[in-house]
Amino acid sequence: MWRADAPAKAILFGEHAVLYGAPAIAIAIDLRATISVAKSNKWILNGDEFDPKVNPHLGQLISEFGTLQSPLSISIDSEIPMAAGLGSSAALSVASGLALSTFHGRNPSTETLARIAHKAEASAQGGRASPTDTSVSALGGAVIVNSSIIKSLQHRWSIDLDGPDGHNHWDVHSLSIPTSLSSIPVVIGFTGKSSSTSEMVEIVAKNMKNPSFRSSMDAVSELSSHAINLLSEGDPKVIGEAMTQCHSLLKNIGVSSKELDDLIEAVLPFSFGAKLTGAGGGGCIIALSDKPEECADAIKELGGVPYVTSFAENGVEILT
Ligand code: PMV
Repeated sequence: MWRADAPAKAILFGEHAVLYGAPAIAIAIDLRATISVAKSNKWILNGDEFDPKVNPHLGQLISEFGTLQSPLSISIDSEIPMAAGLGSSAALSVASGLALSTFHGRNPSTETLARIAHKAEASAQGGRASPTDTSVSALGGAVIVNSSIIKSLQHRWSIDLDGPDGHNHWDVHSLSIPTSLSSIPVVIGFTGKSSSTSEMVEIVAKNMKNPSFRSSMDAVSELSSHAINLLSEGDPKVIGEAMTQCHSLLKNIGVSSKELDDLIEAVLPFSFGAKLTGAGGGGCIIALSDKPEECADAIKELGGVPYVTSFAENGVEILT
């Protein structure tokens, strides 16, 4: 039996804007998805019989990283809430890739895992998917995805995708974050409402036809570019303020909700800053805080689900 796990991600800056040429800055967080793969005489998923051909996402991963010919018993165990903007499906794709390939005696590079998992994500998101989630789950740490190479950062790989809005090109980079920042607890607040990434990106694509939405999107892009320098300086107060400012801009492009805004208002007195993270509409907020328990209580009081977690250095890995 082979077991692999991969971390969730949270976007600090640049969600949605990354689909329009801006950088997205995302961090791996210590909530992990684990998958184990063992030989079997029929296809089993979490104890039940299943047909990989009618489970398109998993079926595609099984055929990309192995074969549909020999049945497997697959178990999935994830700490990451699904459809919540934390990249649960990307973490599973990347971890599945590593467990399946190792099972079949292959040793894929981190880049190959991220690349194939992105292909599966893109086909599940109607062709509108940046490689942010899959790259962070594969690499761990902090990752910056941009439409061109940023010379001051460590370039990892490039990814191209033809989508419904034309051709996309992204360069994936790693950034090492000073301990002054990476040691700060990360609080996630799940609204309890799921969010559909493909629906949200479609709403934004429609809104982008309106000039006032477009100028807010430009401001998100500018802030995200500026935040790259702020991150290397590592001052949690400055990053927190920029995150809160980013949330106001995301509100203007129509991707927040009352639940997200309420959670943010509730945690701000106890944190350096907070914003929605991921596609929005529902899903989660992220706060950087040195009073994580107070943030967690404030989230619970509003009926949300708190996760007190931290920056995660490790990306996808085999567990023995
Ligand atoms: O909600 P998530 O975790 O799928 O994040 C989506 C981030 C977007 O920028 C909205 C879409 C993307 O593919 O980058």
